[in-house]
Amino acid sequence: MDNTILRTEALHAYYVLDVYGKQKILKAVNEVDLAIQENEIYGIAGESGCGKTTLLKALAAAVEPPLRVMSGRVTYRIAGEDVDVATLTAEEKRKLRLEYIAYVPQGSMSVLNPVARIRDTYRDFIESHIGAHQKVEAYELAKEHLTELGLPLKILDAYPHQLSGGMRQRVTIALATLLKPRIIIGDEPTTALDVVVQRGVVQLLKDVQRKLQNTIILVTHDMGVHANIADRIGIMYAGKIVEEAPAEKIFGAPAHPYTQYLINSLPKFGDKTQRESVPGSPPSLANLPSGCPFHPRCPHAKDICKQEMPGFTQVEAKHRVACWLVEEGEHGKAA
Ligand SMILES: Nc1ncnc2c1ncn2[C@@H]1O[C@H](COP(=O)(O)OP(=O)(O)OP(=O)(O)O)[C@@H](O)[C@H]1O
Ligand code: SF4
Ligand SMILES: [Mg+2]
Repeated sequence: MDNTILRTEALHAYYVLDVYGKQKILKAVNEVDLAIQENEIYGIAGESGCGKTTLLKALAAAVEPPLRVMSGRVTYRIAGEDVDVATLTAEEKRKLRLEYIAYVPQGSMSVLNPVARIRDTYRDFIESHIGAHQKVEAYELAKEHLTELGLPLKILDAYPHQLSGGMRQRVTIALATLLKPRIIIGDEPTTALDVVVQRGVVQLLKDVQRKLQNTIILVTHDMGVHANIADRIGIMYAGKIVEEAPAEKIFGAPAHPYTQYLINSLPKFGDKTQRESVPGSPPSLANLPSGCPFHPRCPHAKDICKQEMPGFTQVEAKHRVACWLVEEGEHGKAA
């Protein structure tokens, strides 16, 4: 049975900018095909600036100028029906984000009102989102919710600045999950937190997912966090997904040279040697290299890599890679 809850087909999303009267286009999302499943944690990884946040905005129906979906589709499966995001009105998109998905944007600790106690933020959230439909005792609901998630009730009386960064992030996630969304889209929820605090946030996300049996799409450039939480991982490079596989394959048998760098650069327990990071710097999205966008940095680049973008090769049932080496094998076109 197909359990796809969110699908993208050949999605292209670009920033169309006006720079001193001249149009500049940043190709932040290029030809992305995803099929995110119900009840899975899907991780998206890649260097800063590769388009992760932009992709999430397109998934969360939160595209605003200068960002534009140029072509392709984003489709949700809601109550057995396919819903094409492009056909929704602004009001329907807002409703989708309220009732079906919870989008926690990058740096979103700021969604907590700095001059309101957490209990008041909860009350406002509950009154504006649920209050219209049913009469609820906001404070009781907030207490029940925090207890369910194992968070201390005393935080309800605190102001955001009185909480640690990790606790603020957990409160943000808790609020986002109050309406039991089918999909949680989280952008770097653990970034800027130290490792111990990160663990608490990751555990909360795991607990929420287990309880709601829903889908989490999680962006972080931190491969350690992906190792802890993701069922499947998509590796993004220059706006494209270049490899996708179950987490254990990404870590155990990465096939794309870029993924191999990401994995090899991770510190290993007991090993003090300098880890190899990705050479060179990411390409400009305003002026992408021809062919495979990784070719200027790739130690295996062949002539064909400079000319043509490789399509996906299915190396195993759930493992696909866009690289000429994998496409053709050692003695093929790319050799
Ligand atoms: N509002 C915007 N207007 C113009 N360009 C933007 C805008 N937001 C992002 N960009 C550009 O689009 C590209 C992709 O940005 P994006 O934020 O999606 O990357 P990212 O992978 O999330 O990076 P990070 O890991 O640093 O969060 C970058 O070159 C960025 O500078
Ligand atoms: S297609 Fe070529 S340049 Fe791109 S990652 Fe594979 S070997 Fe390297
Ligand atoms: Mg980002």
